[in-house]
Amino acid sequence: MSYEHAALTRYSQGLAKANPLILGIETSCDETAAAVLRSREVCSMAVHTQIPLHVRFGGVVPEVASRSHCEQIRAVVEAALSEAKAELNDIDGIAVTQGPGLAGALHVGVTYAKALALGLGVPLFGVHHIHGHIAACELTHPELSPPYTCLVASGGHTHLVQVTEDGYALLGRTRDDAAGEALDKVARVLGLPYPGGPHLEALALSGDERAVPMPAAKRLAGTSEFSFSGLKTAAIQAIRAFEQRKEPIRPADVAASFQRAVIEALTSKAVEAALHQGAPALALAGGVAANAALRKAMREAAEAAGLRFYCPSLRFCTDNAAMIAFAGDKKWRRGEMAALDISAQPSWPIA
Ligand code: KG4
Ligand code: ZN
Repeated sequence: MSYEHAALTRYSQGLAKANPLILGIETSCDETAAAVLRSREVCSMAVHTQIPLHVRFGGVVPEVASRSHCEQIRAVVEAALSEAKAELNDIDGIAVTQGPGLAGALHVGVTYAKALALGLGVPLFGVHHIHGHIAACELTHPELSPPYTCLVASGGHTHLVQVTEDGYALLGRTRDDAAGEALDKVARVLGLPYPGGPHLEALALSGDERAVPMPAAKRLAGTSEFSFSGLKTAAIQAIRAFEQRKEPIRPADVAASFQRAVIEALTSKAVEAALHQGAPALALAGGVAANAALRKAMREAAEAAGLRFYCPSLRFCTDNAAMIAFAGDKKWRRGEMAALDISAQPSWPIA
C-alpha cells in the first residue's frame, strides 16, 4: 500500500474517533521537544533544552544545535510517548515544525517526522512555528477563537498578526531586532547568561525604570512596525557611559528602563492594531510573553481599551511541542495533510 493510501485510511479512521492522538515535534531552534495531545488534552510534554550547550557562546550556534537535535530527538519522542502511556501505533498523526527557524535544526525534526509518518502510515502535518505560538493561546483558552489580533514576540520574531477563520494576515513586524533578541543582546552586555530575557526580567525587579532615558521610535508612529535597535543602542550606550565615567554601573536600572521601553512599544502598537482591526480580543504569544511585566501591562492596556486579553500558560509560551501538536490538530480538522516530500522552510512567510 502506498504511503498516501495508508495515511488517508488512517485519517478516516481518526476522523471517526473525533479526537485523534497527535504527536508534535519541534526542533526549530535550541529545544528538542515532543508532545502528545488529544485535542486540548496535553497527554505529555518532553523537552531537551540546549541552553547549557550554547551558554558559553552567548547565543545559539546553529551547527551545535543541529547535532544536538540529531542526538536527542529519538529519546525525546520516546519520553513523550511514555509519559502519555502511548505506543507509536496509537498515534493518529504527526505534526512537525516545518519553519521558520534554523535550517539544519528544522531539517532534523522534519526528516524524523517524515520517516515516522512513513513507517507508521499516518498523516503528517507541516506546522508554521508562529502559527504554533498563536495556537498556544487557543490551547490555553478554549473560549478564544478567531477573529483576534495576536502579538507574537520571541527570540526570532516580533509579528503583529490578524487571526481569522480563513488564516493569518501579517499587520506589521520588526524592522530590525526581534524583541527577545534585543532583550538577549542587552542582557549579554550586562553580563547576564543566555538566554537573557528571563535574567533581565529578574534584574529589572530591583531597578528604577525611569533612571535611564530611552528614545521614542517616532519614525514608526502610526504604523504597526516595530524597531528595537534604537532602544538597544541607547541601553548599551548607557552601560558604556557608566563604565567610562568609572561610576558604579547600575545594571538593574538599565534592565528596568530598557524593559519598560520595550514593553511600552509592544503594548501600544498591539492595542492600536487590535482597535484598528475592530478585533474583540488581543492575544500575546511567543517566548517574551513569559515576561510577567509585559503580560500585566498588555492586559491592563487591552482591557482599558475594551478588548479581551489572552496569553498562553507559561509552559506554552517558550518553544514547546504542545503548541505544534495543537496547530497540527487544527490542520487535521481542516484536512490539510502534508505530502511526504515536504522540506524544512527556514524563511517560511507567515501568510
Ligand atoms: O519563542 P521562543 O522560546 O523561541 C523563539 O521562537 O525565538 O522565545 C525565546 C525568547 C528569548 O529571546 C528569551 O530571552 C525570551 O524569549 N524570553 C523572555 C522571557 N522568557 C523567555 N523574555 C523576557 N522575559 C522572560 N521572562
Ligand atoms: Zn518560538
